[in-house]
Amino acid sequence: MSRRKKLYEGKAKILYEGPEPGTLVQYFKDDATALNGEKKATLEGKGVLNNRISEYIMVQLGHIGIPTHFIRRLNMREQLVRQVEIIPLEVVCRNVAAGSISKRLGIEEGQQLPRAIVEFYYKKDELNDPMVSEDHITSFNWATPQEIDDMMALTLRANDFLSGLFAAVNIRLVDFKLEFGRLYEGDMVRTVLADEISPDSCRLWDMETNEKMDKDRFRRDLGNVTEAYAEVARRLGVMKDMP
Ligand code: C5P
Repeated sequence: MSRRKKLYEGKAKILYEGPEPGTLVQYFKDDATALNGEKKATLEGKGVLNNRISEYIMVQLGHIGIPTHFIRRLNMREQLVRQVEIIPLEVVCRNVAAGSISKRLGIEEGQQLPRAIVEFYYKKDELNDPMVSEDHITSFNWATPQEIDDMMALTLRANDFLSGLFAAVNIRLVDFKLEFGRLYEGDMVRTVLADEISPDSCRLWDMETNEKMDKDRFRRDLGNVTEAYAEVARRLGVMKDMP
């Protein structure tokens, strides 16, 4: 790993040059940050859990025809992915009010939303990832109208599928964040799901107790963060060969 060229280091992951052209190695760190980096900690084992959970979810989404950057998991902390050009947006999909929508619109946390709501945020740490409209996105050429349509459709399909997948293991998918990239294949360009899908990027509540099983445990100092991630992994059945 150390001989590979590091291309990018983010808050929770590192991207290295991959073994073949057009591939990257995505490495999952144990670091956690919140409040745009103001709050930091190392949560031992988080990277291993997120690598497994994200692998499982990306593979399942692939099975229903959602294109993703995921190729295969390499080891405990790394996965091989396709190199894409990241669209500089975070696409959030919400089923139940929590977090920033509760704060911004005064909707009580836990209230079921009338339908799934999709929001776009501009990926810019210095600006704290502000929410943006479709008009902002097309005016500043962050994505084309076709790409916005693609991201919307893929996000809503992923939401339907993942809501069911989590419900089957007694977990409510409250909300989640997706990132997309452009995959260049000859003179074709496709919009594909990128980054990760894990308890770092979703809100997951136990269906019976409403207990939080996601990064809000870290953000809100609720304790037992990795234990909660491990329980998500256990329920999804991705821990079978782990100690
Ligand atoms: O903070 P907010 O309520 O807008 O977050 C909505 C969802 O998006 C949550 O599941 C959160 O974990 C995720 N998110 C993320 N990365 C961000 C912002 C939000 O994964 N930078």
